[in-house]
Amino acid sequence: MLRQTVILTAVALALDPLGTTSCHALRSTSNATAPLYKDPSASIDDRVSDLLSRMTLQDKVGQLMQGDITNFINSTTNAFNFSGLVDNMEWKAGQLWTGYPVPQRWIADAVKRAQDYLAENTTLGIPTIAQNEAIHGVAYFNATIFNSPIGYASSFDTELVAQMADIIATESLALGITQVFAPVVDLARELRFGRVEETFGEDPFLAGEIGYHYVKALQARNVSAVVKHFAGFSAPEQGLNLAPVHGGERELRTTWLPPFHRTVIDGDAWSVMSAYHSYDGIPAVADYHTLTEILRNEWGYEYFVMSDAGGTDRLCTAFKMCQASPIDSEAVTTLALPAGNDVEMGGGSFNFKKIPELVAAGKLDLSVVDTAVARTLRTKFKMGLFENPNPAAPENQTSSLIHTKEAVGLARKLDAESIVLLENRDAVLPLKKSASVALIGPFADVMNYGDYVVEDSKYRGITPLAGLREASTGSISYALGCQPWSNDESSIPEAVSAAAAADAAVVIVGTWSRDQTELWQGLNATTGEHVDVSSLSLVGAQAALVRAIIATGKPTIVVFSSGKPVSEPWISEHASALVQQFYPSEQGGHALADVLYGAHNPSGRLPVGIPRSVGTLPIFYDYLNSGRGDDPDAGAVNDNGTLTFGHQYVLDSPAPLYPFGHGLSYARFEYSNVSLSSTTAGPDDAITASISITNAADVDGFDVPQLYVADQLASVVVPNLALRGFQKVWVPAGETVDVQFELKVEQLGLWDQRMRYVVEPGDFTVWVGASSADLRGNATLTVVG
Ligand SMILES: *[C@@H]1O[C@H](CO)[C@@H](O)[C@H](O)[C@H]1NC(C)=O
Ligand SMILES: *[C@@H]1O[C@H](CO)[C@@H](O)[C@H](O)[C@H]1NC(C)=O
Ligand SMILES: *[C@@H]1O[C@H](CO)[C@@H](O)[C@H](O)[C@H]1NC(C)=O
Ligand SMILES: *[C@@H]1O[C@H](CO)[C@@H](O)[C@H](O)[C@H]1NC(C)=O
Ligand SMILES: *[C@@H]1O[C@H](CO)[C@@H](O)[C@H](O)[C@H]1NC(C)=O
Ligand SMILES: *[C@@H]1O[C@H](CO)[C@@H](O)[C@H](O)[C@H]1NC(C)=O
Ligand SMILES: *[C@@H]1O[C@H](CO)[C@@H](O)[C@H](O)[C@H]1NC(C)=O
Ligand SMILES: *[C@@H]1O[C@H](CO)[C@@H](O)[C@H](O)[C@H]1NC(C)=O
Ligand SMILES: *[C@@H]1O[C@H](CO)[C@@H](O)[C@H](O)[C@H]1NC(C)=O
Ligand SMILES: *[C@@H]1O[C@H](CO)[C@@H](O)[C@H](O)[C@H]1NC(C)=O
Ligand SMILES: *[C@@H]1O[C@H](CO)[C@@H](O)[C@H](O)[C@H]1NC(C)=O
Repeated sequence: MLRQTVILTAVALALDPLGTTSCHALRSTSNATAPLYKDPSASIDDRVSDLLSRMTLQDKVGQLMQGDITNFINSTTNAFNFSGLVDNMEWKAGQLWTGYPVPQRWIADAVKRAQDYLAENTTLGIPTIAQNEAIHGVAYFNATIFNSPIGYASSFDTELVAQMADIIATESLALGITQVFAPVVDLARELRFGRVEETFGEDPFLAGEIGYHYVKALQARNVSAVVKHFAGFSAPEQGLNLAPVHGGERELRTTWLPPFHRTVIDGDAWSVMSAYHSYDGIPAVADYHTLTEILRNEWGYEYFVMSDAGGTDRLCTAFKMCQASPIDSEAVTTLALPAGNDVEMGGGSFNFKKIPELVAAGKLDLSVVDTAVARTLRTKFKMGLFENPNPAAPENQTSSLIHTKEAVGLARKLDAESIVLLENRDAVLPLKKSASVALIGPFADVMNYGDYVVEDSKYRGITPLAGLREASTGSISYALGCQPWSNDESSIPEAVSAAAAADAAVVIVGTWSRDQTELWQGLNATTGEHVDVSSLSLVGAQAALVRAIIATGKPTIVVFSSGKPVSEPWISEHASALVQQFYPSEQGGHALADVLYGAHNPSGRLPVGIPRSVGTLPIFYDYLNSGRGDDPDAGAVNDNGTLTFGHQYVLDSPAPLYPFGHGLSYARFEYSNVSLSSTTAGPDDAITASISITNAADVDGFDVPQLYVADQLASVVVPNLALRGFQKVWVPAGETVDVQFELKVEQLGLWDQRMRYVVEPGDFTVWVGASSADLRGNATLTVVG
C-alpha cells in the first residue's frame, strides 16, 4: 500500500513538481467515480493512501502548517477578507486556530467559511481541524470555566473529570471546534515553574489516569485531544519557563513518559503536541528518539504531532542550532520534520513553506512529507471530519449547549470535590451557617482564575464573598486586608476589627495568574505561563495579614487560593484550619462555601506535595531510594526565636509540610483487613488488593484510599514508593465499605541496566494509605519468574 502511494505521488510530482498549478483548481462537478477516500465504509488505511495519492505537493504542505481565523476575519470588526481566506488555505489548510477573545458567533462563522471554502473550492475538499485551548474549559467567551487542572486533579475523581471533558466537547462542537490543546500531562516536579497550575500534579500515575479519562470522554464525542507537552517539559533549570531539562533515559522512561503512554496510547489520543524545551541537550521539537523511536516505533502511534506556538523557530532562535536572523527555515524544517514533528503551529516563521523547494532539491525525502501528511489525514478520518466537517450548532441552539445549568452545576461539584482540607484543629470546620463570619483577604472578593481563561473572565463567576453570603444564615462582613501585590499594611487594622467583631475569620490569601490576553501584557502575577518564582511564600503583606488575624484569638480559617503549593509553615502551625483551593471554577465561591459550611464534606487530596520552603525542593514523594532519608536530622527556627541546628537541613527539614495524597475529611476513616487475592503472581498476572474502610464519624463522606507499591530489592535505583491505584469512595457514617484495587503485575517493572522494561522476581510491599506518608496497611506480593 505504501509502495503504491509513493509511486502515485511521484507521478503527480513529475507532472507538477511544486504543485503550484492544481492547488486551486475548481472542484470537479462530476462524481461518477466517487473517490475511495470519501467512502466512510472504507478502512482508514485505504482512505489515507487513496487521498494521499491524489494530493499535489502543495496540498500536502498545506496540511502541515496551522492556519488562523485572523488571516481572514478582522478580530476587532469581524470584517471578512476572502483573499485572506484563499491565501490561508494555500499553505495552512490543515488546522485552524480559533482561540481569540471574539464573540462566539464570529468563531462559528469563521469555521463555517473555512470548511465551506475547502469543500466547495478545493479539488479534494479536505476539511480543516478547528482548534482552541481547553485545559479547564474551552477558551472562548462565556464557555463554562472549570477549576484549574491542578485543582480538578485534586478531586481524584476520574468520573467527574470525564463529565467535564464531555461538556468541553459539547461546548467546542457548538461552534465547530473539533480539536483542543488538552490535556496537559506534564508533571509538577519543579514548583518554581509558573505552569504548575496547568498540570495534574507531581505523580506519573495520577496524571496518566486523569489524562486518560479526559481523552476518552472528549474523543467519544469526536473532538480530538492534543496531549501536551511531549515530553519531560516541566522541570526546567532554575524553574524558568522554557529552560533546559536535565535527565537521562531512565528518568524519562520511569517518570516522564508513563502519563503520556497512558493518555496517548491507552487513551488513543488523536494528536500530541511537542514541547518547547531541550532534554539532555536535544530539543523536544526535533527529538528523533522520543518522537520517532519511542512514540512511533515502540508505541505504534499513528497520528500527528504538532509543535507548540513558535516552537520550531526555537531551533535557531533559542537553541542556536542554526542561524536565527534571517531564520534558516531549511535547517528548521530538516531538523523537525524528519524527527517526527509533523505539523508546525503558528506563532513563528512557518518554516515548512520550504518543503517544496527542499523536496525539489533532493534535500528532503518526499516519503518524510508523505508520512507526516498521512498522520494528519488519519486523525481527520478517525474524527469523522470528512463526514461531518462542521458540527457547529445553528445559532439559535447554542444557548442550550453552552454554559448550561448542567455544566455550571458540574463546575461547582468538581470544584467542591477538589478542595483540600489541610488542617482542622478542634473541628473548627464546618462552620455553623448562623455564625457571624469576617471574610478577609485579597482573594475574597475576586475570581482568582488560573491562566488559560479567555480575556476578562475575572468579571464573571461566583466570588468567595458571593458564595459565603448565599450560604450563610448569619452575617458575613468583608475586609480586603491588603492587596496581594503590595507590602502596604495600612488596611490590616480594619480587617483585624472585622475579625474581632465576628465569631470566626476566613482569610483568603495566595497566588494569582492572568487571563490569556493579560498574561502577555507584562502585568504583575505570581503564577502562569512564563511567570516563575524563587519563593513559594506568600507575597507582599499577605503573611502579615494572616498573622494579625490569628493574633485576634478568633478561630481563623486560612484558605490558600493558589495555582501551586504555598509554603507557610507558621500558618500551618497556627491557623485553626487551613484549606487549599487551587484556582477555582466560575462556581468557586459556592464550592468553597459548600466545604466551609459542610454541605460537601471535603474530599480533595493533594496531587503535589507542599514543601516547607523552596530551598527543600524537589518535594515529590516518589524520590529514588537513598533520597531524603528515613530520619532526617532536621533543624528549625523556633517560634520563640531560638535556633535548633540540624544537618539535613541546618535550620529546616527535607520532609514535606504536607505530603502527596494528603487531605482531611469531617469524617474519620479507618482502614482494616488489607489483603491480596494472591500473594504470589507471575509477570503477566493481575491480582486484587482489598481493604475495608469504616467511617467512624457521624457524617457521610468520600474517602480516597490510595494504593502504593514499593519494590523491596531491585537491580537499579527505583522510586521508594509508587502510586498504582486510587479510588473515590462514598462511605456513609458508621458504615464499612469494601474496596478492591486491581493491580497488574506488569505495572511493577523497572528499566534495567540495559534499558529494558522488566518485572523482576521478588517481593513487593503493597500499601494502602490515606496519603503517601500515611500508609495504613500492607501486604507482601511475591513475583515469581
Ligand atoms: C454525487 O454524489 C452525491 C452524494 O455523495 C450525490 O448526491 C450526487 O447525486 C452525485 N452526483 C453525481 C453527478 O453522481
Ligand atoms: C481591523 O479593523 C480595524 C478597524 O477597521 C483596523 O483598524 C485594523 O487595522 C484591522 N486589523 C487588521 C489586522 O486588518
Ligand atoms: C486581505 O488578505 C490579503 C491576503 O492575505 C491581504 O494582502 C490584505 O491585506 C487583507 N486585507 C485586509 C483588509 O486585511
Ligand atoms: C456573555 O454572556 C453575557 C450574559 O449572558 C452577555 O451579555 C455577553 O454578551 C456574552 N458575551 C459574549 C462575548 O458572547
Ligand atoms: C468559492 O469561490 C468563488 C469564486 O472565487 C467564490 O465566489 C465563492 O464565495 C467561494 N465559496 C466559498 C464557500 O468560499
Ligand atoms: C465519530 O466519527 C466516527 C467516524 O466517522 C463515526 O463512526 C462516529 O459515529 C462518530 N461519533 C460521534 C459521537 O459522532
Ligand atoms: C432555529 O432556526 C431555524 C431556522 O433558522 C428554525 O427552523 C428553528 O425552528 C429554530 N429553532 C429554534 C429552537 O428556535
Ligand atoms: C498589579 O496589578 C494590579 C491590577 O492589574 C494593579 O492595580 C497594581 O497597580 C499592580 N501593582 C504592581 C505593584 O505592579
Ligand atoms: C524555644 O522553643 C524550642 C522548640 O519548641 C524549645 O526546644 C526551647 O526550649 C524553647 N526555648 C526557650 C528559651 O523557650
Ligand atoms: C476484617 O476481617 C475480619 C475477619 O474476616 C472480620 O471479622 C472483620 O469484620 C473485618 N473488619 C472489617 C472492618 O470489615
Ligand atoms: C506490614 O504490616 C504488618 C502488620 O500487618 C506490620 O507488622 C509490618 O511491620 C508492616 N510492614 C512494614 C514493612 O512496615
